[in-house]
Amino acid sequence: MKQSESQVRNNRRSFLKKSALAAGAATMGAGLLTRGISTFAQSTGSSSGSLSAGDIAILRFLAAAELIESDLWTQYAELGGIGDNPPIEVAPNQQLNNYQIALSNLDGDGPQYITSNWIDELSHAAFLNGYLESKGADPVNFDEFQTLQGSRATGAQNIGRLTNLMQLNVDTSWFIRYRSATNPDFGATFPPALTLDNVTAIPRNNNDFEGAPNPNFPGNDHIQAIANVAAFHFGYIEQGGSSLYAALGQKISSLEVLKIAFGIGGDEVAHFLEWVDFSGNAVQAPVAPFTDKISGLKFPNFFNPLNPLIQPSLIFPVPCEFINAKLPHCAVIRPSDDRFGGAVATIASFTADGLFVGQSPKFFQTVKQLAEEADAATRSV
Ligand SMILES: [Fe+2]
Ligand SMILES: [Fe+2]
Repeated sequence: MKQSESQVRNNRRSFLKKSALAAGAATMGAGLLTRGISTFAQSTGSSSGSLSAGDIAILRFLAAAELIESDLWTQYAELGGIGDNPPIEVAPNQQLNNYQIALSNLDGDGPQYITSNWIDELSHAAFLNGYLESKGADPVNFDEFQTLQGSRATGAQNIGRLTNLMQLNVDTSWFIRYRSATNPDFGATFPPALTLDNVTAIPRNNNDFEGAPNPNFPGNDHIQAIANVAAFHFGYIEQGGSSLYAALGQKISSLEVLKIAFGIGGDEVAHFLEWVDFSGNAVQAPVAPFTDKISGLKFPNFFNPLNPLIQPSLIFPVPCEFINAKLPHCAVIRPSDDRFGGAVATIASFTADGLFVGQSPKFFQTVKQLAEEADAATRSV
């Protein structure tokens, strides 16, 4: 939701008042994930009904995708998140870091949304692995790949990471795709809304919290640029999840697994739409236009000049081609064909995004195999 400056200031006050320690919340969440898997596995005995090999392959890839999301959202939540879900009260004098302030410039509730998105991803991963185990199938475990160096900034845990948020090539074409009347499933392609190549979406160390002050808002250009990159990356990740569930859902045979895909996929869409709005606030007044004098990144005001293909207030999917180009246009999640939104396509996109920079050949082989098996599933009823 776009807010007036006074609303943002008011929200920031309540945000200061009710803020919780992000690091504490991170510890809680990691426990939640572990507990979610282990206690369920312990308490469920033998499976009640068997799944097809295709459905298992789909669920295992979705679990893998959710572990990837969990890892990256953990990193965002440690540095930019706040509070808990539901919110808890903590000391009113807690200091916010400049990343949290820059994110709250985009929406006063942004840090809470980050924490909420993170908790949701942990729940998706834990549920899918728990469900697989309840059906006698193998859960997915990426612990051996949690090896990457994460941020060294204050607030980040000193633990190995699965994903890399510090050398991203953020594909921002989704911002135009969802404002367009054409559909990738029909071959449409879209230019980037912004060029964000080899950029960091989180402060890499405490130096990244600093930079030239900007009189228009608290914080500074440098950390605001990092928060703006994060905003577009949030949207990129969650549009990917939205398409992935839509694409793989069409291959599911079990009605119960379809219910799972609709349920979790709907939550991915819920996340995506918030980040559409959030990222739009990074490219309009009062935050934009500005240039980060350290990185050189530029964020124009997308309202000036007005262009419907990048108009920030067009936050819902604009009607586009769907099923058959001769049919009336329809407001939908797109792409939803496996060629563009399936498992292999998702891993290819995440790889191009830079999310796996530094990962081992074994990791790439593992996710490739999971993805190919999921895409190979066929619906049979
Ligand atoms: Fe998810
Ligand atoms: Fe997600």
